Amino acid sequence: MPARKKWPLFIVANRLPVVRGKGKGEGTWKRSPGGLVSALTPIVQRAGGAWAGWTGTTGPAPDPFDYDGIAHLPVPISRTQLASFYDGFCNGTIWPLYHGAIREPEYHRRWWQPYVTVNRRFAEVTAESAAQDATVWVHDYQLQLVPALLREMRPDLRIGFFLHIPFPPEELFGRLPWRRQILEGLLGADVIGFQTQGDVGNFLRVARRYADARVDGGQLQIHGHTVNVDSFPVSTDFDHYSQMASDPKVVKRAVQLHHQVGQGRKIILGVDRLDYTKGIDVRLRAFHELLSRRPEAVRECVLVQLAVPSRWRVSEYRELRSQVEELVGQINGEFSEVGLTPVQYMHRELPFNELIALYRSAEVMMVTPLADGMNLVAKEYVATRFDNSGVLILSEFAGAAEELKSALQVNPHDVDGLAETIDMALSLPEKEATRRMSRMRDVLSEHTVYDWADSFIEALDV
Ligand code: ADP
Ligand code: F6P
Repeated sequence: MPARKKWPLFIVANRLPVVRGKGKGEGTWKRSPGGLVSALTPIVQRAGGAWAGWTGTTGPAPDPFDYDGIAHLPVPISRTQLASFYDGFCNGTIWPLYHGAIREPEYHRRWWQPYVTVNRRFAEVTAESAAQDATVWVHDYQLQLVPALLREMRPDLRIGFFLHIPFPPEELFGRLPWRRQILEGLLGADVIGFQTQGDVGNFLRVARRYADARVDGGQLQIHGHTVNVDSFPVSTDFDHYSQMASDPKVVKRAVQLHHQVGQGRKIILGVDRLDYTKGIDVRLRAFHELLSRRPEAVRECVLVQLAVPSRWRVSEYRELRSQVEELVGQINGEFSEVGLTPVQYMHRELPFNELIALYRSAEVMMVTPLADGMNLVAKEYVATRFDNSGVLILSEFAGAAEELKSALQVNPHDVDGLAETIDMALSLPEKEATRRMSRMRDVLSEHTVYDWADSFIEALDV
């Protein structure tokens, strides 16, 4: 049993911030994919905190270890739990349902019990390791039962829960056969945080309807327990991204990338996990539409799409990969000119410095999810534009759209509208682009990831 140590911050999330490298990186740790890890890592490092989570490898968990300023407390997940808990209930039921059912969620009783078992295991590891009266912050849709389980095991703890993805409206949430159990799990927390006010409204409505909670403003009363519910939009380490972007090595690499990839053309960039919520396929269709209308645009711009491998055991993700790669092939086949390719596609992760250089090399950034809790890529791009250059095309359906009002906002389902917006972005007058970018930078510099974490912990500590 790990020692009970008084860490200033105790995080519980499905993934640890690092995973075991494969191939050339075998035996080393590398950063886990996704926005949750990008947001929380600097927070836990600053606090010198602990993080309970899964290593990304099935089987017995390694002993607790310290790495990069964080105490890692591994939680084991077996191969069968990976299939039923992670691929199944988390990413086959909850993920599509909470993202507006843009893929049909599957409801299987054989996936539910493993979800309960794995949530219990996370709660046990936390209950064994957290100090008396500690503050514990549980994250995301994989662990919605942990707050109540933990409260039962350790009533002395202050428990917060934050959902990184959207919370669905009543008509979707109501479909879930285990809706009452999920709500009761969440309502074990003292504070529940969401990305947007829309998510808060959705949650309050279903808590009243399906969990008989009494709602008074942003407070819920249930079985004599008070739960505070509010929105806390997640953000980035703005100064770090801004400074990294102006590092001479990164500046040099960005120029080099622009020369190699752009070949005199403007770079339009997409950076996403290869996930059907991200709208990569519609974005490619819009680019195809633009080139169909103006084939000469192949000499003006290139689309660079970086897609991070994700959840490849789930069939919808494999299908998306084939679809995206087919579209890339189709566009390049139809519109390439000798020495000029319209789409450059990479299916891999990149080292942090290389990603920043890529952000810096791009005149236009396309972030077009069909549904997204926040989308940190959009905020990271803005943070790297220290000279106020660059144009952000942003989906109305990303949580980030509430703050980044000066982006060129689009309906990502509208192929024609998106094609027109890309054209507009390519020819936006410099003065207008600067004005928009500088406004977005003002918004983000006033609300960094540290402000996000501080405001949540403050709400939890009262
Ligand atoms: P999600 O959490 O759904 O994956 P976000 O946009 O909020 O979406 O976060 C994605 C995170 O993953 C960002 O912090 C981004 O920097 C990182 N990331 C995206 N693509 C890559 C890549 N190819 N290599 C390394 N990191 C990446
Ligand atoms: O909130 C987005 C999120 O689902 C995180 O919970 C998760 O860590 C990340 O995306 C990446 O997904 P996964 O852990 O399934 O690879």
